[in-house]
Amino acid sequence: MHRRRQQLRAKIIATGSYVPERVMSNFDLEKIIDTSDEWIRERTGIRERRIAHEKEAASDLAYEAAKSALKRADIKAGDLDLIIVATVTGDMSLPATACLVQEKLGIKKAAAFDVNAACSGFLYGLSIADSFIKSGAYKRILLVGAEVLSRITDWEDRTTCVLLGDGAGAVILEAADDDRGIMSTRLMSDGSLWDLLHVPGGGSRHPASKETVKKKMHYLKMKGNETFKIAVRALENLVVETLKENKLKLSQLSLLIPHQANLRIIQATSERLGISMDRVFVNIEKYGNTSAASIPIALDEAVRQGRIRDGDYILLEAFGGGLTWASALIKW
Ligand code: COA
Repeated sequence: MHRRRQQLRAKIIATGSYVPERVMSNFDLEKIIDTSDEWIRERTGIRERRIAHEKEAASDLAYEAAKSALKRADIKAGDLDLIIVATVTGDMSLPATACLVQEKLGIKKAAAFDVNAACSGFLYGLSIADSFIKSGAYKRILLVGAEVLSRITDWEDRTTCVLLGDGAGAVILEAADDDRGIMSTRLMSDGSLWDLLHVPGGGSRHPASKETVKKKMHYLKMKGNETFKIAVRALENLVVETLKENKLKLSQLSLLIPHQANLRIIQATSERLGISMDRVFVNIEKYGNTSAASIPIALDEAVRQGRIRDGDYILLEAFGGGLTWASALIKW
């Protein structure tokens, strides 16, 4: 633990991402379930998604994303104080996937743990990392969102399998003294709506058994239509409140990076807010919904495409199982 200092800010000094090689297109899905490329594109905006190799687990994807971020930050893994992995598809239920990433990075000094807040997981992790840095507890943190959703996907359920994909994104956060970095984070949840999006089997409520497997309880279940409506309302409020808290106008925002769940959710939220789509980052067509990995992958692509400049205000927002929703305002 480091000594408390005044006015520290958590700054993202580098981003990285990794997606598995295998591309599964909507046309590939047409061959296994009753769906069409046209339906998927019109209802979700998705054209294709990545599917992890059978030998790849969440920590493998996370490790690749982490390596890429470390390289761009030009620091060694040994310089990290803390590793946080946001995931709902960790390699095992125990230990934390963050510990497995630590092993792969070959470091022993850092602390490591996972965060489970489904699609909002990366932003929950960002808020935790921000607090640790502001308090002076840690100086340099690796935060990764990594998911292998294809392992909890029911490939016979057309209402969910067309939506999901695999991938990982990472950021390195560092304590900085200037006025740039994370301005604020906002975390919300409503546990009364847990059953809109959940995996019923394999935990202590319904431990894995022949019965749970037969009933497909190890797969993700979603009430898509209800989730959709709640998401749009919650995200609109979230963005409005985040801007208000920071005394910013929507016009001052350079880029909105939403969780990539459904293009129609992104468009509906943007429309209600009155922000034009050229200031909203979208890459859902390539990856589908990668849950906790979606925002860090989008952020990495936005940085690499030169869509974020020093001093820009960018807002990240997500919504997902829990239900949980969250935002982060960053001065880049
Ligand atoms: N291919 C073809 N038809 C499909 C289909 C598919 N993959 N999935 C569903 N359908 C059918 C339904 O069976 C239904 O048919 P019916 O009218 O004969 O009963 C019809 O399409 C409409 O279904 P509905 O569920 O009302 O569609 P929708 O417009 O709500 O779109 C989702 C479905 C899942 C794409 C949409 O609800 C969604 O994206 N919800 C948000 C989910 C989400 O992002 N959750 C995660 C938050 S992190």
